[in-house]
Order: sequence, then C-alpha cells, then structure tokens
Amino acid sequence: MNEVTKETYKPTSPNSKLDFASVWEYAPAPESASHAEVKNKYELFIGGKFVKPSSGNYFESTNPANGEVITEFAEASKSDVNKAVKAARKAFEGEWSSISAKERGKYLYRIARMIQERAREFAVLESMDGGKPIRESRDVDIPLVAAHFFYYAGWADKLEYAFPGQKPEAVGVCGQIIPWNFPLLMLAWKIAPALACGNTVVLKPAETTSLTALKFAELVQEAGLPDGVVNIVTGAGETGAEIVNHKDIDKIAFTGSTGVGKLIQRSLAGTDKKFTLELGGKGAMIVFEDAPIDQAVEGIINAIFFNQGHVCCAGSRLLVQEGVADTVMQKLKDRMESLIVGDPLDKNTDVGAINSQGQFETINKYLKIALDEGADVYQSTCNIPENGYFVRPTLLSNVSQSNRVVQEEIFGPVLTIQTFRTADEAIQKANNTPFGLAGGVWTDKGSKIFKVGSGLRSGVVWANTYNKFDPTSPFGGYKESGVGREGGLHGLGAYLKF
Ligand code: NAI
Ligand code: MG
Repeated sequence: MNEVTKETYKPTSPNSKLDFASVWEYAPAPESASHAEVKNKYELFIGGKFVKPSSGNYFESTNPANGEVITEFAEASKSDVNKAVKAARKAFEGEWSSISAKERGKYLYRIARMIQERAREFAVLESMDGGKPIRESRDVDIPLVAAHFFYYAGWADKLEYAFPGQKPEAVGVCGQIIPWNFPLLMLAWKIAPALACGNTVVLKPAETTSLTALKFAELVQEAGLPDGVVNIVTGAGETGAEIVNHKDIDKIAFTGSTGVGKLIQRSLAGTDKKFTLELGGKGAMIVFEDAPIDQAVEGIINAIFFNQGHVCCAGSRLLVQEGVADTVMQKLKDRMESLIVGDPLDKNTDVGAINSQGQFETINKYLKIALDEGADVYQSTCNIPENGYFVRPTLLSNVSQSNRVVQEEIFGPVLTIQTFRTADEAIQKANNTPFGLAGGVWTDKGSKIFKVGSGLRSGVVWANTYNKFDPTSPFGGYKESGVGREGGLHGLGAYLKF
C-alpha cells in the first residue's frame, strides 16, 4: 500500500514529552456485530418495494478497515431512476398529498422512534461500511439522525407558523444525492425536512456507504409510509447524474465535492429546478493568546481528527497567535500521540479507517504535495493496522497561505498550522481560500469572538468549541462551499415554494 509512514517523512521534532503507549495500554473492546443483520445483496427501493435493477448489475461494498466485502448493492441505471421518479410523482400527486399534515408528522415521529430503538444496529453498520469509529456513529451520527426526524416531525403541521403570512406548499419530487462521510445523517438531513413539507424523494446514497440507507428503506416499509414517498436508488456518479438530469424532478439537494457540485449547477442552469448544494470546506480555527489553551487543543483534536477528517466543515487549518504557537504545537503533538487509530468497531478507537482506497490515495497525494511544498510533516507515532486504509494523525507546519495544502480540501486527518499577530491578520488568512463553510475561534474575550465571527465569511462559526451540530441550526456555505442552507427553519424553507 502506498502509505506515507513516519520513516518516509522524518518528523521534524523529537515530539512528545509523554510516552503514552508505555503508560496507558488499552485492551481491545470490540462492539459486537452479531445483532446487525446484513443481507448478501440489496435491491433498489422503489414504490415501497425492493426491486431488481434493470441492468442486472450489482457492485460490492467493502469494510475499509479490513478490505472484506460486506454486501452488494444494485446499480441503478436511467430506467430505474425513471421508475423511482414515477413512483415518487405518483405518491406526491396521490396518497401523500391527501393525508393531513398532522398525519405526515406522525410518520416522521414514528421513524425517529424506530431509529432510536435500533440505534445500536445502525451504528454498527455505519462503522462497518464506512470506517468511522463506533463511538462516533453511536454517540454522534445516530442520535443526530433521530434528532433530525423529531425536529422536522414537529414542523409538519406548523408550516404556516414557520412562515407567517405566506402560503407554503411542497415543491414536489426531490432528487437527493449524498456523500459517504455521514451516510445516515446526510440521509436524515435530506429526507426529514423534505417529507415534513409534503414532498416525496428519490435519494441516492454514496456508492461506498449505501448500507444504512437500505436498512432505512426497510424501516420505511415497517413504518407503513405510503409507497413511493421514499425511494432509494444505489449506484455511483452516473446514477446521480440521471437524477440531476431527470425532467420530472422539481428540486435537487446535493452534498459532496465542490467539483461535482459545479457540474450539477451547470446541468441545472436554465431549468426551473430548485437546488441546494452543500460542498467542500477548508475551515480555519483561530486561537488567541488569551484562549484556554487545553480546551482549545481538545477542540482542535475534535475538529480535524473526528471522523478521520472526513468532515466538510472540518477545522483543517489552525491559525495560532504567535505568543502561544510553541505551546499549542507541543500540546497538540502530545495529544495526537495519545489518539488510538484502528479498528472502527473498537469502542476505544478515536480515529477509524479512511473511507475508501480512492480517498486514502488522495490524502497520501496531499502528504507528498506537502513535502514538495517544503512543509514540516509531523505524524503521531501510533501503531496502525496492517490491513485496511489508515492514516496517522498529521500536522503540517512551515506552510504558507499559497500552498496547495492550505488552499485545497484534503478530507483526511491532516491539519495545517500557521501563525498570526493581529485579529485582522487572522481573519484575512482564514478567509483566504475558495471555501467558506465553517470556522472556529478560541479566546477569553467575547468582543474578539464577535469581531472574528462577523469577519469570517463562513456559514458556521463556533466559539471555544468545534463540530457541534443541532437540527435547529442552519448549516451551509459561502463561496465554493455551496448554495443554500440545510437545517433549522432555513432548511425547511428550502423544501417549500411560496
Ligand atoms: P463526490 O462529490 O464524487 O461524491 C458525492 C456524491 O455524489 C456520491 O453519492 C456520488 O456518487 C455522487 N456523484 C458523483 N458524481 C456525480 C455526478 N456527476 N452527478 C451526480 N452525482 C454524482 O465525492 P468523492 O469523489 O466521493 O470525494 C472527493 C472529494 O470530495 C473528497 O476528497 C472531499 O474533498 C470532497 N467531499 C466533500 C464532502 C462534503 O461533505 N462536502 C463529502 C464527500 C466528499
Ligand atoms: Mg463500504
């Protein structure tokens, strides 16, 4: 495997003062997967039924932590997408529109409760198919999925109160395309508000992480949702493009790379489809000298190593005020050294597997670029499993603003570190990338939080924390990070016409 190792990169400093490994060894604590049922093969979910793909083709999904094939998904082609859109249209014009808003809300409450009941099973499957640590899928992803369904369930019969004086109406059939970093959570972000507003959906999960979406389809069947309200088609980019270009879809909601987002925006130009795009990011974290340093370090660790850095709003750039730069750097290295990288199903694991071979190669490509650009590359010395796709937590220092590693989205556990002297310089550096999704600031002074918060061209700015999510809060980007907002009332409005 083309892996960048500590040997290859020669860490620039002898690093850690603490030898965590010898002080503190954890015994393995694997989560049991026995209760999570996985079929050998999953069909498409169209019109309330599981149906075979017209091409007869299937593709494999692997566990990125060990390379084992977990199951196979059906490949949806143009005619399957068409079938799904027809089913969604029929439901939209028929049964789904004829039931009351209150009844619609009840279905969403039911789904939310069913997710809670099966939280453990969903968490295990999410970690197996996607590589994220079980601690995260269990404590972050799945609870947030339920929270989104609960939140939007509450709005279903209160749309006129959400938008007083207006007569909100459902948009119609929504095509939704989601990525692999938060598979079930992105599904919830898309499906919960769409259904609350009375729309029907055709959703395509990412090709490497479709398992929980199909488990969700089973749950939709059990919840008794009318046929065709939720349709799930699996496949790769071509299937996604069939959804984007389908003439009978009223709205497209996409989360994924900026490159594909641009393609989609081009395809939609001149059509009357509504759209929201949630794309990449290069979040900056600004740490002032007066910040609570230990708290800041913990926040930074969470911001970039959480979910292997597979987070569009990840804090992938650290801007630290000169006076505390050395202290922050040393504390960060010490903390990085204590992170456990390995089996996603082990409850002790902090950093799991990189989602796919493709993403693994992308991250390693950027580590080479960092070296070519003259960065100092520091990696934690932790052991990583021999099989599977793993990257050690990495810090890139001695970088400048124009470096590719500072400007481009790496989407891995890789943090760049730069220094600044004044708040204005920090804001200027933070804003100087093509993105504007999220940022963070650590300081003891409320006034600095407001100054930085209003200066950052970012959809989200966290203060003295990072990566905190809530269904009531809108989320979305400036510049190349996207168009429109999801979450909260803004996210509701995106699924209505007035
Ligand atoms: P991607 O943008 O290709 O994939 C996201 C989704 O879009 C998947 O469901 C995919 O099947 C679908 N898709 C791909 N091509 C399409 C097309 N032409 N039309 C319609 N749908 C299409 O992302 P990819 O290649 O998996 O990751 C590449 C980079 O994208 C990552 O390194 C990362 O920088 C960024 N990314 C950002 C995400 C975010 O949350 N903003 C999520 C995933 C990736
Ligand atoms: Mg997989």
